Amino acid sequence: MKKIVSVLLVFTMAMSMIAFTGCQSDKDSQSTSGTNKKGVSIGIVLPTKEEPRWVQDEARFKAALEGTDYSVDILFSQGDPAREKQNVETLISKGIKVLIITPHDGAAAAAAVESAKEEGITVISYDRLITNTDAVDYYVTFNSVSVGEAQGQYLVEQLNGGSGEKLYLYAGAATDNNAFLFFEGAWNKLQPKIADGSFIVQNSSKAVEYKDKTTLTREEMGEIMEQITTDWKPEVAKSKAESHITAAPPSGKTFVLAPNDGTSRAIYDQFAKESGIEVFITGQDAEIPSIQYVIDGKQSMTVLKDVRNLVDGAINTAMDVLESKTVETNGSYNNGNIDVPAKDIKVITVTQDNVKDTIIGSGYYDASEFEGL
Ligand code: BGC
Repeated sequence: MKKIVSVLLVFTMAMSMIAFTGCQSDKDSQSTSGTNKKGVSIGIVLPTKEEPRWVQDEARFKAALEGTDYSVDILFSQGDPAREKQNVETLISKGIKVLIITPHDGAAAAAAVESAKEEGITVISYDRLITNTDAVDYYVTFNSVSVGEAQGQYLVEQLNGGSGEKLYLYAGAATDNNAFLFFEGAWNKLQPKIADGSFIVQNSSKAVEYKDKTTLTREEMGEIMEQITTDWKPEVAKSKAESHITAAPPSGKTFVLAPNDGTSRAIYDQFAKESGIEVFITGQDAEIPSIQYVIDGKQSMTVLKDVRNLVDGAINTAMDVLESKTVETNGSYNNGNIDVPAKDIKVITVTQDNVKDTIIGSGYYDASEFEGL
């Protein structure tokens, strides 16, 4: 017994030294080691710790890898493409066989994954697609067009036959391919109701100009998004909302397409300062603070992208590669250079009506995280 304890002690000390070394070289890095002694087999690079979304991915990765034979390093790029490239190089030097990466900037990350590819590493684009390179082997993603469609559909349903209602549009960062897919999905649902005058767009002259176009080119979407981008930053969303409210004050029923939960809460808080209006506002990610906003009747909906499924998809892909098995895919996405075989995962709309079932009932979060359920 004594022997087992001291072996465990030495192991624990060794592990904390490894973790400490890891921390010294990059204070945002995390190591999760399995029983495999052959070095780090899977490297994971996530975009930022500043958003609950990606911290959750890290936690779910750790939970999913516990007890497996694979040793994994998770590094964060903190919204900096140079740091991201350095993270990939660090992982290459550790001997990874598979790289799972969510780029901060989908185009800028091409160089990083190309250097991984040159070392024979399999590259899995995780959630965000890396564009304009053939150095991506697989893409594991939620269906982002359907996320935007869920948001657009929700707003259309709340119209309830109304016409001339005010609609404010917001989008994600133009460096993120997903931001285009989300907008495309939302446009699919909103455009007919903008074209027929049910919605009147308040804050994008380009969206007004293109209101009769059922499908937008990437350039046209880019022009609209430039006017309404949040850059995925709540503080940008907040100041844009402030100036839009000043320029075109809301009244009565007010509809807001907010691209994700972080920006949705920031935008909602600005609109909530106006009196006599009823705000319908979208989101996505099912972040804990936004679930509370949904429960409280502030944020109207969010889209649950069950990160457990995304993590499973990525890990299963990595394990199939490591064990030389065939990787099952169910779709493909063109990244500007090649069609990348994809695992495409479904999403769920969450509102006050189904929040208990979808979020608590599914075991996604514990009820104790929330008040007033
Ligand atoms: C992700 C969203 C996230 C956003 C901002 C997107 O690529 O799909 O879940 O909210 O980036 O980080």
